[in-house]
Amino acid sequence: MAHAKRPVAEHCTKGTVAWRRAAQPVPAVTQKDMVIVANRLPVQEVDGEWRTSPGGLVSALKCVLENRDLSWIGWAGTPGETIAPFKHDQIHHHPVSLSPEEYEGYYEGFANGTLWPLYHDAVRSPEYHRSWWRPYVEVNRRFAQYAAESLAPNGTVWVHDYHLHLVPQFLRTMRPDAKISFFLHIPFPPEELFAQLPWRREILEGMLGADLVAFQTRLGAQNFSRLCRRFTNAVGQDDLLKLGDRLVKVDALPISVDVDRFDAVARNPEVQLRAEQLRRDLGGRKIFLGVDRLDYTKGIDVRLRAFETFLENNPAAIDDVVFVQVAVPSRECVDDYVRIRQRVEQLVGQINGAYGRAGKTPIHYLYRNLPTEELVAYYLAADVMLVTPFRDGMNLVAKEYVSCRTHDDGILILSEFAGAAREMLDALLVNPHDIDGLAATMAMALKLPSHEVYERMSALRTLLKRHDVHRWAKQCLEIDRDCS
Ligand code: G6P
Repeated sequence: MAHAKRPVAEHCTKGTVAWRRAAQPVPAVTQKDMVIVANRLPVQEVDGEWRTSPGGLVSALKCVLENRDLSWIGWAGTPGETIAPFKHDQIHHHPVSLSPEEYEGYYEGFANGTLWPLYHDAVRSPEYHRSWWRPYVEVNRRFAQYAAESLAPNGTVWVHDYHLHLVPQFLRTMRPDAKISFFLHIPFPPEELFAQLPWRREILEGMLGADLVAFQTRLGAQNFSRLCRRFTNAVGQDDLLKLGDRLVKVDALPISVDVDRFDAVARNPEVQLRAEQLRRDLGGRKIFLGVDRLDYTKGIDVRLRAFETFLENNPAAIDDVVFVQVAVPSRECVDDYVRIRQRVEQLVGQINGAYGRAGKTPIHYLYRNLPTEELVAYYLAADVMLVTPFRDGMNLVAKEYVSCRTHDDGILILSEFAGAAREMLDALLVNPHDIDGLAATMAMALKLPSHEVYERMSALRTLLKRHDVHRWAKQCLEIDRDCS
């Protein structure tokens, strides 16, 4: 409950409107055939200019939306700030402002304190507060209003993620002509968990406003359809629900990455030289790599304990192996994220203190966001990539690593509980909660015969080339109104 009452931290509310030289103001309402609605705009302010944001959703969408005339409705990232619509990189941006109270109730509260933990197997206890629900409804209504105003007749609106579950239904009422697609990037929980939510019917009805409701996995789609049949007036099968005189298609459309783009960066000679340099800097040792947003769902702490166990079981390995953990700062104003950072940093210190020697640090820890070229250099340098979340909608890091391994080498250790594990069956699949099992898989990865490494990686690459982000976006936007 302390979470609900905590005042918004000062560094979360500070804002300035004196920058944004790159922004070109546009008239308040410019109607487009395609409107994207996501909690965040795809840009952020860096040194007084708008730049494309790093991160999964943005990079996934940017490359498929290039050269399309569209509007993007989202929050610019600072509470209490009002920004006029502007054009950047051909996209019309319509910033939605959030008051500090809405930021706390809608974003920190309902999105990050209720839905995020509930949808991730309740690895932290979800909190249910009526004072969070009310701003969630109001902010969703505002996003829908902006979308309704920005959409040309019979246009398409693509709504993203758990922050905006109610937008499809609001929009359906405001703009019955709109084609609406909804995609959930995170897992959709099983019936028994979702049923805890005091506003379960409202959330389901909100999503049912869309023509297409898509999930990362078949299981998520099935959970949704079953819950709709139980708690709403919808009837029908798992893949097609009927609500009054409307049909709603329900599908599993796993997101992917821009495979060609990562492949090209990986072939860049400068990036390859940087990877060589990283290998030398790390003493020519075999490299285990973890790259995660610093989130309690990612299993970073258990992964580090597994590496500790690996060192315990293989004391000589300190000369041959190094672990690099890149932790991307995230939601630093939310208590659970402050705590997980402390835990991870304490473990890094503890393990380095216990096993390190002069010139031989077992764990290299980077708390920052890396530019794409630098990230790809790490992917190229790494012998073994560890992606071990307790629960994850998909996990694009796993797909990025594979996209970069142009020589069909490198080993991916992947959690059974990541959406990616449903497709990437040639990874070494692990239970991320099993410290001994994870340590044993790390040891095994180093001993895998090279022909097996090659076979596994080339199978993974073949799969990814067939299922890249362009295919995913195309499927998400195929809306057949004739069936509804
Ligand atoms: C996940 C969500 C995204 C979100 C991202 C970063 O990947 O699916 O919708 O944007 O985390 O979280 P943040 O709270 O910083 O937007």
